[in-house]
This record gives sequence, structure tokens and C-alpha cells, in this order.
Amino acid sequence: MAQEIVVSGGSLLDLQGERPADLLIAEGCIADIGSPGAFFGRGIEVDASDALVMPGFVDIQVHFRTPGGEDSEDIASGAAGAALGGVTACLMMPNTVPTIDNPELVSEVLALGRDTPCDVYTSAAITVDRAGERLVDFPALYEAGVRVFTDDGTVVDSADLMKGALEASASFPDVVISQHAEHSEMVEDGVINQGAVAERLGLKGRPSEAEVVIVERDIALARQTGGRYHVLHMSTAAASDLVRDAKAEGLRVTAEVTPQHLILTEEDVERLGTSGKMNPPLRTMIDVEGLRTALLDGTIDAVATDHAPHSPQSKSVGLPEAPPGMLGVETMASIVWDEFVARGLMTPQRFVNLLSVAPASIAGITAHGGPFTIGEAANIAVFDPGERWVIEPERLQSKSLNTPWPQKEVQGRVRHTICNGALVVHDATLV
Ligand code: DOR
Repeated sequence: MAQEIVVSGGSLLDLQGERPADLLIAEGCIADIGSPGAFFGRGIEVDASDALVMPGFVDIQVHFRTPGGEDSEDIASGAAGAALGGVTACLMMPNTVPTIDNPELVSEVLALGRDTPCDVYTSAAITVDRAGERLVDFPALYEAGVRVFTDDGTVVDSADLMKGALEASASFPDVVISQHAEHSEMVEDGVINQGAVAERLGLKGRPSEAEVVIVERDIALARQTGGRYHVLHMSTAAASDLVRDAKAEGLRVTAEVTPQHLILTEEDVERLGTSGKMNPPLRTMIDVEGLRTALLDGTIDAVATDHAPHSPQSKSVGLPEAPPGMLGVETMASIVWDEFVARGLMTPQRFVNLLSVAPASIAGITAHGGPFTIGEAANIAVFDPGERWVIEPERLQSKSLNTPWPQKEVQGRVRHTICNGALVVHDATLV
């Protein structure tokens, strides 16, 4: 039997609020919640003094490159970085080689994630091979455990297919259709945001209207079908306005944003080089401000990283040739805490909602996201809000180096992570 763990001296923080309390963890679950010191001597002592004890974070957009891209990341390296970032559940994207679009591959991928320090879930494609020609077998994939469907990396161009997918989602209570919202003809051969920097560098741009056109169309289809729609990595202020209106209307629409789209702009691409290239691209300050407003007013439901490792060799080319994508899962909590909570722009409770509660709910990941309840699975991040550290690409767990935050000093760090009752990170070190 696994040894019992006592999380002591910290403040519990979930949607019920913040209160000083200790946790006793046994057999994978929260066995008891008590006043400080209540469980002294009952198990391995995990020090949470001066720290917040939160439900483990949930990243609903990661690329762990299995199968087919294991030189840049695999499930083991991805999950290790996730655990160090306090992430206890990850949702993999299906843009692998081959595409995750059938129950057999879903089972294989889930089996590889079974003994990792983070729970690994996977989404599946909306269309077979993400080719945009015919829909996948939704009932069979649902049976295999899939709740999120997306052709991430590419948009579903066909309105007919998107309508069919949304109709399918409406017949399952907990299925969501997630869209990479960039109209493909409008972004063809585009490298970075269409704007001043692309012009200066002589690069073909990806216009923000390409996102707006798709989000607007998809919201209309969600209205027509009653289906559940989620905007992946939303990057424009204008799309966030559409999502705000859709929510006001009562449609089943949610949206996520990455830390990088909340902080960086197209201007940062020149500094970052190919690590600053992703799809959808970093935009303008107007978009950053619009997304931040949407994050704080409840329009945006969740933060997700689009953790997209690419090997150093593949990124060691010019911007047009480099694959798009940035690392994120290991640094998400620190970046968002540093930028928003440490500066007094966001409450700690909104933070826990955006990084844990809401993403778990969107993706139907029921064993994560809290609240702290006796008998529930122990998936926990102990976060030190005062600790400062420097993000060094080589020290991250990823096999790749393409973080958009090289050498950035941040305030706030995950001290310990407990996944399914096991201590997987202790004092910021993998156990
Ligand atoms: O920049 C991106 N990279 N955006 C995506 O949607 C896919 C991802 C990847 O797989 O590398």
C-alpha cells in the first residue's frame, strides 16, 4: 500500500475559497481535511508552509508527439514537464503521425500515459486523418473515452462537416468540438501575423480576420445545431467579442487562450526568432489587451498552453521554413501567476478556475479540478506564490528548447505535485 502523505502548513485554495488546512492523503484519495497539525506523524510530511494548495492544473492543449514525433517530445518527457508545472492532467492533441482518429490508437496512446507523473488524456480528430473529407466514428471514439474532438493544427474548412460534428456533439452530454480557427485559404503560406512586423521582414502574413471568419461561422453552426463548441488558442480581440456575445445569448460556446497570446505580440517574434512562431500567430497589443479583458471578465474560460515542442534542428532554419509552435506546459502556472496574480490583476481564485476547474470541466476530466473533498482523487499542486526563478530552456524537461520565455525571471513556482495520491514532484524536483 502506498505510504500516506500529509500536506501541512498551507492554505487550501479552490472555488470554495482560501482557508488554512492540512490534507491527509491515502490510497490515492484525500482521506481527511483537518486543522493545521491535525495529521502530524501520520505519513510522509510535505511542507506547504507559505504556499497555496490547489487542485492540480489541467492543460487541455498539449502536443506530446506520440506517435510519430518522439524526437521532439514523447509522453514520458511531456508528462515529466507537466508534473513539474503542477499539471496533473493533460489533454493531447491528435495531430500526430498517424493521426489519432480511431479507437485502437486512442487505447495505445492512453496505455503509454498510464505510468507517467501526470494523467494523460487524448482528444481525437474531427475528420479522418485530419483531411477535412469525412467525419470520424464519434460513437466508437466516445466509447474509447474521447470527449474532445479537434483537427488542431488545421481548421475544419467545410461548414457541412463542422455542422455534422456539432450535431454529433449534441447527442452526447459531454462531448465538445474544438476548432483551430484559422480559415485555411486566408492563411495559406502565412508565417507570422499579418501586420507591421511581417511587412518589415518581407514575410507573408496570417490575418486576424482568418480567425474571426471561422469563429463567427462556427458560432452560427452551434446556434443552429445546439452543439458544444470550443475555440482553441484564441488570439484576437475580435474573436473574443464574438464569444462574449455567444455566451450572453446562452450558446454552448467556450474558449481558451495561451499564456503567450496574453503577453507577447508580433514585435516579440524578432527577438525570439523561430521560438516566436506559432499558429495562430502572436498578434498586436490591441489583441493582447482584448484577450486580457476577456480573460478577466469571464469570456475566456481557460488557459491552455498549446505546448508544441519542435526539435532544435527543425527550428534552426528561417522563419518561413520553421514549424510553428512553442513549449508551455512546464511554465504555464508561473507565467500566469507572475503576470496577473502577482501584479494584483487577477484573484488567486480566478487563477485556479482558469488553470484547473474550467479546463477540467470543458474536457470532461472529472477526477481533476477539485474542490477538495474527502474521498476524491488526490490531484494537487502546492504552489509557492513568492518564489522567484529563472526559466532556462535547457533545464526544462522537454526534449525541445522552443520556449518563448528564455531567461525570463518569474514569481511563483510549483513546489510539490501530487498525482492520484502519489508524490511526483517534491521541492520542485521529480521524485
Ligand atoms: O503553433 C502550433 N503548433 N499550432 C498548432 O495548432 C499546432 C502546433 C503543433 O502541433 O506544432
